[in-house]
Amino acid sequence: MEQRSGMLLLAIMCLIVFSRSETVDVDVNFKAKKYSLEINNKLKLLNKRGVKNIKSENGDIVDCVDIYKQPAFDHPALQNHKIQTQPSFQFASQAPSPSPSHSPSPSPIPSPIRSPVQNDHNSSQIISQYWQRSGSCPDGTIPIRRIRRRDLLRAASFERFGMKNAAPNSYSTNDDIGTVYINKTRVDLGPQINRSAAILVTTGYSYIGAQGDINIWNPKVESPDEYTTAQIWLRNGPGNDFESVESGWMVNPKLYGDSATRLFVYWTVDSYKSTGCFDLTCSGFVQTNKDIALGMPLGPVSSEAGPQYQTTFSINKDVNTGNWWLRLGQNVAVGYWPPGLFSYMKQGPATLVEWGGEVYSSKVKNNRPHTATAMGSGNFASGLDGYACYVKQVRIVDYSMQLKYPEWVGSFVDEGNCYSAQNYAQSLAYEPTFYFGGPGRYYNYCP
Ligand SMILES: *[C@@H]1O[C@H](CO)[C@@H](O)[C@H](O)[C@H]1NC(C)=O
Ligand SMILES: *[C@@H]1O[C@H](CO)[C@@H](O)[C@H](O)[C@H]1NC(C)=O
Ligand SMILES: *[C@@H]1O[C@H](CO)[C@@H](O)[C@H](O)[C@H]1NC(C)=O
Repeated sequence: MEQRSGMLLLAIMCLIVFSRSETVDVDVNFKAKKYSLEINNKLKLLNKRGVKNIKSENGDIVDCVDIYKQPAFDHPALQNHKIQTQPSFQFASQAPSPSPSHSPSPSPIPSPIRSPVQNDHNSSQIISQYWQRSGSCPDGTIPIRRIRRRDLLRAASFERFGMKNAAPNSYSTNDDIGTVYINKTRVDLGPQINRSAAILVTTGYSYIGAQGDINIWNPKVESPDEYTTAQIWLRNGPGNDFESVESGWMVNPKLYGDSATRLFVYWTVDSYKSTGCFDLTCSGFVQTNKDIALGMPLGPVSSEAGPQYQTTFSINKDVNTGNWWLRLGQNVAVGYWPPGLFSYMKQGPATLVEWGGEVYSSKVKNNRPHTATAMGSGNFASGLDGYACYVKQVRIVDYSMQLKYPEWVGSFVDEGNCYSAQNYAQSLAYEPTFYFGGPGRYYNYCP
């Protein structure tokens, strides 16, 4: 008797599961059939044959691809590129010195160089990725997250797979343009359409490097075509036509198919219009590291009032080769953007650096109800250590080749009631830590 009812229950459960997956899959199946040729061609273009593949516990597949067969070599500017295996630079840390006499008014945020940040109460530096438990790539190869049919089927368009939505060519002066005052000068950050940011900005120097320790969280993303990042940007060029190299962590269900916190890189040379992409989903970034896979989950993540896990994200131009290197943690080189990709940043430096978070959603600004996609930890910046997402050890490098706290900084937020920012120091004797983030939709504050 018991067995029979058990069977019946099983049958009913199967029925529910089947009918559910059927309705969900009709659309996808239709799309898959209709575009099967396009999808196959795109997959062939995107994925390079690996000498080994590793199935990660989360279902992702990592292909170990010959380092000279990676996507970068499909780029016309990189046909005969010779890989630089390690960066050649070393930067001296500037010794903490007393405040310089000039003060960067009217910014309310004090920014001169002071003693290093207060003790990291309880934070561990990590650059571990869960897939590493399932295997490792041999020398001479790099790990690449395989793009699957289902990844393409989620994308809004095959052509723009792996790309951010483009900013419009021209834009009028309105709420959607980010501006910040730094050293009494108005700085145009470009159009912020469908975007809400909480960032620390510096400009006024020639930046050949920037870095920061960012703690890792897993904020909620409300709808699959939204994403949330914590990252650093190095930019050059006008607000509507800039070049940018970026890295950090991100939750992006549309791109990756789940809500895990993943390591990413991004680049563009035309403010996201037609160039660049996340990770290795197009040709551009040259990877040299065989242990770190772009687009794969990073962890463990920090918890409220509990242990904090952070990673140093560091991007520096190697002045000997012109390559813009990404390093993580304590000096682990991941790879670089070659100068051939850029115009401004080919010979030149970056002129703007940003640290912080960005939420991409069409339900921001005046579109109500606001998205409940969170930024950072999901807590406001005022939560400080243990609760808020932070950037510690904010550093830049200019042609003096010294790592230093940027003298001229300003905080920028699109919607302070939804996602806030605070460049906070316990006292003027310490350099500030940048805290940022928020829940998005939040009672009457962010309706
Ligand atoms: C900041 O402003 C002061 C006064 O206008 C100027 O002398 C200085 O060069 C500026 N600094 C930067 C980095 O732009
Ligand atoms: C500090 O970190 C350890 C392990 O990383 C953890 O067990 C402990 O709870 C943390 N303490 C605080 C106060 O966050
Ligand atoms: C903003 O979002 C809307 C709605 O999803 C979309 O049609 C538009 O292309 C987006 N624009 C940008 C610049 O992201």
